[in-house]
This record gives sequence, structure tokens and C-alpha cells, in this order.
Amino acid sequence: MEPVLIVHGGAGNIRDSRVLNKVEGVKIAVIRGYEILNRGGSALEAVEEAVRILEDDECMNAGKGSVLNSDGEVEMDASIMDGRTLDAGAVAAVKDIAHPVTLARLVMEDTPHVLLAGPGARRFARKVNMPILAPGSLVTKDAEDALENFRTYGGIQCEIGEIENFGEVGTVGAVAMDSRGHLAAATSTGGINGKMPGRVGDSPLIGGGTFADDEIGAVSTTGHGESIQKFCVAHSIIKSMEKGLDPQEATDTVLAKMNERLKNTAGAITISKTGEVGIGMTTKRMSWAYRKGDKLIFGINKGCQQTEILEE
Ligand code: GLY
Ligand code: GLY
Repeated sequence: MEPVLIVHGGAGNIRDSRVLNKVEGVKIAVIRGYEILNRGGSALEAVEEAVRILEDDECMNAGKGSVLNSDGEVEMDASIMDGRTLDAGAVAAVKDIAHPVTLARLVMEDTPHVLLAGPGARRFARKVNMPILAPGSLVTKDAEDALENFRTYGGIQCEIGEIENFGEVGTVGAVAMDSRGHLAAATSTGGINGKMPGRVGDSPLIGGGTFADDEIGAVSTTGHGESIQKFCVAHSIIKSMEKGLDPQEATDTVLAKMNERLKNTAGAITISKTGEVGIGMTTKRMSWAYRKGDKLIFGINKGCQQTEILEE
């Protein structure tokens, strides 16, 4: 089967000055992740690699460049799921780890658990010899400025709010189908700017931020974590596809219902078991890109997309 890889770099009211970097970031991640699929690698490896690249990208709200909690610290959430087996791994409220998605994969592969949080996740990271960075290593100037704005203007400022948003940079995620028809999904985030220490969003929750099942499809979400959790967005999209909706219809329908019911915004990328693509957002922008064969298709403004033909 022809492999497919889709990535997102977060939904929101993305500032014009960030548009180019955000689009460039998702294109690079999708091209590098797809090389793995082209070499016959698995969907799981491809989504992990794409998310690792986005975690290194300071324009994204994941890994380096994550938004800060109210103590001024980076606390991150991530998850990964293998559609072949429904195996899943996740970490929540982890600090000083460059690649939370890889720690999530190790939770999946090396523990009997799905989700490790806080100090326990850190102990596990040490046990598997994952480097623990010096405190503050993942903090960027942009994230500090965003927290300063949050403190100045006060209130619970969701990074994807429709009002001027301080520190919106975008949760990241990827979904893929490999040449054997297997699916995988992964998501990683710094959460929301100015959050309470210990706050956990949707991204590490299987069925909230991430889901993959070879028999139906795979989804990764971005947006207001509290709303996405309550609406079980990733799993709701999967269930809608199970009932016969195509991935685009399923994505649009669930996001619109969440937006109507909870008055908050979200975006999602979805792939079906046959490699059809769904990309949806209730925000004005979400950076995304996907590759299928020699076509690289990408966009950031709602309703707009561009296509490039890649040379082999
Ligand atoms: N919480 C905002 C986002 O997922 O982009
Ligand atoms: N969607 C990411 C978060 O709210 O943490």
C-alpha cells in the first residue's frame, strides 16, 4: 500500500509573523518522517520521528519552545499508539526531557502501564537512560514573554483563544499508515500557557488526544485540552468512522459538535485504514502537512492548501 504521513503543528489564532515558520516546520517533519515509510519502516517509527522533529522546533509548543506553567516551568505531556495491537504509552507533566514522545514509546514498550506522570515518569526516564536536561533547558524567550503577558493580563488564557493569545505556538502530532497498512498516532505538547503546575491536558490521553486502530483509523488532536478530554475527541472521530463517515466528515463533525457544546476550539488530523486523509479545525489556523507518494500537501489557513510534487 502507498504509505501516508500527516502531521500538525497546532491549531489556534496563529500570529501572521509565525505562519512561515510553522508551515516550514510541519513540511520538514513530514518529509523526514516519510523517509522512514519509504524505506519500509513502520507507521510507529514514522510518527515518533515526525513528532521528535517538531519537539526540537522552537516554533512549536512541544519539547523545546513549550509554553510555561504559572511557576515558569516547562511541563509536558505526550502519547503514542500502535494501531496493530492497540498498545499505547504516554507521559504527563514531565520536565527536562527533550523528547517526551520517545519516553511515551518506552512506557508502551517497556512497562505494563499506559501512562506515567510526574516524578514516576522521571524515574522511569532515568532507568531507561534518557538524558535529564538541566532545569530551564527547554525554556525559550518567546515562552517567557508569553508567560509575562499572561501574568500581566491575568485570567485563564487558553493558548488557542480567539482573543489575543499569549504564547500560542501549537501542540504537535502525527498519524501514519505504513506500506503494510498498519496505523499509528502520536501527540506531544507543553499544554497551555500559565497553566497550574500539575495540569494535564488531552495530549497524553488515549482517546482524547491520540488514538490508532488498524481496523478503523488514527487521530491526533490539538486545541483546548479540557474540552477535548470531555469530548473524547480522538475516540469520537474513530467511532464516527466506524459508523461509516469518511475521515474528513468524521473530523469535521466531531470538532463542530465539540465547539458547539463546549464553546472551545480544536483541530485534528485523521487517517482511515485505507489511507484517506481528514484535516479539520474550528480555529482560523492550524499548520499541517501530509505526504502520499510524491505529493506534499500542506496548509495553515482554514480551507486553503498547497501541493508540491517532490522529486524521488
Ligand atoms: N492547547 C493548545 C493546543 O493544543 O494547541
Ligand atoms: N491540547 C493540548 C493541551 O491542551 O494541553
